[in-house]
Amino acid sequence: MAKLLIVDDEAGYRKVLRAIFEDEGHDVATASDGRAALAHLAKGKRDLVISDVRMPDIDGIELLKKAREQDPDIGVVLMTAFGTIETAREAFKLGADDFIQKPFNNEELKVIVKRTLEKQAIISENRAFRNAQRQMGTLSNIVGQSEKMLELFRMIEAVARERSTILITGESGTGKELVARAIHEQSDRAGKPFIPINCGALTETLLESELFGFVKGAFTGANAGRAGVFESANNGTIFLDEIGDMPLSMQVKVLRVLQEQKVRRIGANDEVPVDTRVITATNRDLGPMVENGAFRQDLYYRVSVIPLHVPSLRERRDDIPHLAEHFMRKFSARSGKNVTLSDGAVAALSGRQWKGNVRELEHTIERAVALTGDGQPIAAEHCCGNGASPAYRRTEIPADGIHLPAFLNGLEKEYVEEALQRAAGNQTRAAALLQIPVHSSHRVHRERRERKCKNG
Ligand SMILES: Nc1ncnc2c1ncn2[C@@H]1O[C@H](COP(=O)(O)OP(=O)(O)OP(=O)(O)O)[C@@H](O)[C@H]1O
Ligand SMILES: [Mg+2]
Repeated sequence: MAKLLIVDDEAGYRKVLRAIFEDEGHDVATASDGRAALAHLAKGKRDLVISDVRMPDIDGIELLKKAREQDPDIGVVLMTAFGTIETAREAFKLGADDFIQKPFNNEELKVIVKRTLEKQAIISENRAFRNAQRQMGTLSNIVGQSEKMLELFRMIEAVARERSTILITGESGTGKELVARAIHEQSDRAGKPFIPINCGALTETLLESELFGFVKGAFTGANAGRAGVFESANNGTIFLDEIGDMPLSMQVKVLRVLQEQKVRRIGANDEVPVDTRVITATNRDLGPMVENGAFRQDLYYRVSVIPLHVPSLRERRDDIPHLAEHFMRKFSARSGKNVTLSDGAVAALSGRQWKGNVRELEHTIERAVALTGDGQPIAAEHCCGNGASPAYRRTEIPADGIHLPAFLNGLEKEYVEEALQRAAGNQTRAAALLQIPVHSSHRVHRERRERKCKNG
């Protein structure tokens, strides 16, 4: 049972429609014009409005707009006696769920209403699912439970439905591309293309033909025309990654597309309209680049209408255990192994610097899973960085003190053993892993001899 609102200036229609839908078990309210309908909607939630288009004062189209402003999820079906293709098209463009011409067959209207209510149920189920996911600390594959990430999730949901250009900033490996995808998935463009373009990885000419496309004969080798991503992502989203690396000459062209929503293929005379949302990202600080002329100020203003910052992993250490768990599951599933994370491993991971952010954590876990036997816990040693980030240090000194030489000896032994194991017994490679000269690595020699003896 749904809550319907029937809006028609003809009393006869209101009566008939009320009878039909009450018969179907719905809760039906009626209004005789747009103004009364809006007053009704302001008082309490309705699931679906079935409204006449031609009405004095506020007509059905305007009612649709205003009703959606009040409640973005409300269903709207329009009816008109003057149903021309144009009105129908306009109604759909404005987001009406469906449209029927008067006089109509009652059964046909019932089908339309049923279909619209079903669609709404799916949408709200989906939303409930997303909310549940968010509470569990993920949004479109983004794992995070820290306050900073939850705030980012809220921002993503708030901006997803807008058309404005977004600038995502954050250090390398923080998940900027994941955020861009999440915005696309949460928007009404989900299901349409999402096309990422790395502006820093392409030469200027390649970037230009990727973005704008070209006509046949535009340049040598252009044997056939091709659409650029602005065209092929029509109704979808383009993700312009590393926009700070875009050459100035391209910046001006991209700005023009953003302003005019039209593209001209290379070599073409005319422009085609496009409706493509643009999300940009950079790990560079565009402010100073604008000041020294390396980035156009007008484009900067244009792309940074909505700025989103993805915090570094250091600023949200409480996410590390969840991310580690997430990657451990991913890589153990991939390798068909069943491994676990020990507390020591989590402690080791939590203490590191993570200059490469989540990407570095992902690679660390991938490697650790590879080094761990089936059914085993991942060892803390596999979670320490290499020499570059010596953040995992066992510096706790027990209450009764520690015998440092013995402790260091033991530690050295563990490392050498581990290195030999990883190098399949090859001394040179083991020494290289530990970054010690192979000839001076007595320990490696000795350890190896001992292993040989042990193994017979
Ligand atoms: N919060 C997260 N949850 C799960 N996976 C994540 C998260 N953040 C990043 N990742 C993973 O880390 C890797 C790097 O993420 P991504 O490519 O989005 O980073 P980036 O900020 O675009 O980096 P760069 O600036 O180097 O392009 C990807 O494999 C991504 O799936
Ligand atoms: Mg990226």
